[in-house]
Amino acid sequence: MLLNDNFKSLSKSYLFSEVASRIRDFKAQHTDADIIRMDIGDVTLPLDRCVAEAIAQAAMEQSCVSSFHGYGPEQGYGFLREAIAETDYNSRGIDISPDEIFISDGAKSDIANLTDIYGSQAIVALPDPVYPVYADSNEIAGRFTTNGKILYMPCTIDNGFKPTPPRDRVDVVYLCSPNNPTGTVLTRQELAAWIDYALDAKALIVFDSAYEAYITDPTLPKSIYELPDARKVAIEVRSYSKTAGFTGLRCGYTVFPRELTGYFSDGTAGNIHDLWLRRQTTKFNGASYVVQRGAAALYTAPAQQSLRENIAIYLNNAIILRDALRAAGHNVAGGENSPYVWIYPDYDAEVKKGDSWRLFERMLHECRISTTPGSGFGKCGEGCLRLTGFNTPENTLEAVLRIKKSTF
Ligand code: MLT
Repeated sequence: MLLNDNFKSLSKSYLFSEVASRIRDFKAQHTDADIIRMDIGDVTLPLDRCVAEAIAQAAMEQSCVSSFHGYGPEQGYGFLREAIAETDYNSRGIDISPDEIFISDGAKSDIANLTDIYGSQAIVALPDPVYPVYADSNEIAGRFTTNGKILYMPCTIDNGFKPTPPRDRVDVVYLCSPNNPTGTVLTRQELAAWIDYALDAKALIVFDSAYEAYITDPTLPKSIYELPDARKVAIEVRSYSKTAGFTGLRCGYTVFPRELTGYFSDGTAGNIHDLWLRRQTTKFNGASYVVQRGAAALYTAPAQQSLRENIAIYLNNAIILRDALRAAGHNVAGGENSPYVWIYPDYDAEVKKGDSWRLFERMLHECRISTTPGSGFGKCGEGCLRLTGFNTPENTLEAVLRIKKSTF
């Protein structure tokens, strides 16, 4: 069969597969190494009991003729979409209705699948560094830097690691706040500038707010819909992975406001919500009933309280890491309102290709801590390293001791 040539341009492995493979190799050579995982953002705290019980009950329902659920609605069950609309939006004064919410098996799939609705000539703007799924999925769809269909927006110490609207017109802009990987958060003013740009350019903003629950500063926006006019230009992607320990269970959602409009190549208007519904009904049968029951249980008062407590633990880990790395003489961004800590080189340092992987290897060999090399997130990440606050408090303190004792 004829293959998709676009795969030839991708890096050989997906970033986190490459990291995992290097950790496996290291373990094979150092069988007694007690590695502290601070690479992929995988959580360590278990599911809330209410969630586990709701899942168990839903599983039992599936064993009775009277309560059995077969195919579910592709957009997600009403009980979950209503809970999301009410708790995550309406109760915060944001106008989002249940029929604008699409339940998925996680933010990663939704983000990657979005390319299905972009025109083949669409130009997308991506921050650099960036969550690799944004870049890889667009490259698989045939968009590359070389033929001008991906515009990378460098995010360095010069702009506080935050992208600003480009001079050129683009069709789609991806924003992630709190940012993966740099941990920085866009302010209301910065987000407002992006909304103005999108209104003017008739562009779509893909707002990835998978880490919104980590925002503790009340002046920072958790949702793009807190800003005026955002409904006209933005979709918002959210996930239960990092907020509720669903990295293994898989569930998230994306909001498509009804008024979002795009344009076909003949100039006629198309409704983006309807296009996505068409895409999902064709290619997706919905997240499982059992998992959606588990997600709905998150919207009870005790579960909300326990989520807040878990997030406080991860945030505290991130601050401990940030402070220890600063004390060791590193430049560090993130670690506040974010589970990620981003080490970056001195302003005038000469950064060489491979520096990030060299830092990764040093941290692994000297400290037995696995991290993610910044270069895996893009060219501007070269020389940088990402650590996460998702491990346990005990392991985080142990990691700090190891860093102190090392030359790192
Ligand atoms: C990360 O470490 O960047 C994330 O865990 C990856 C993901 O959510 O897919």
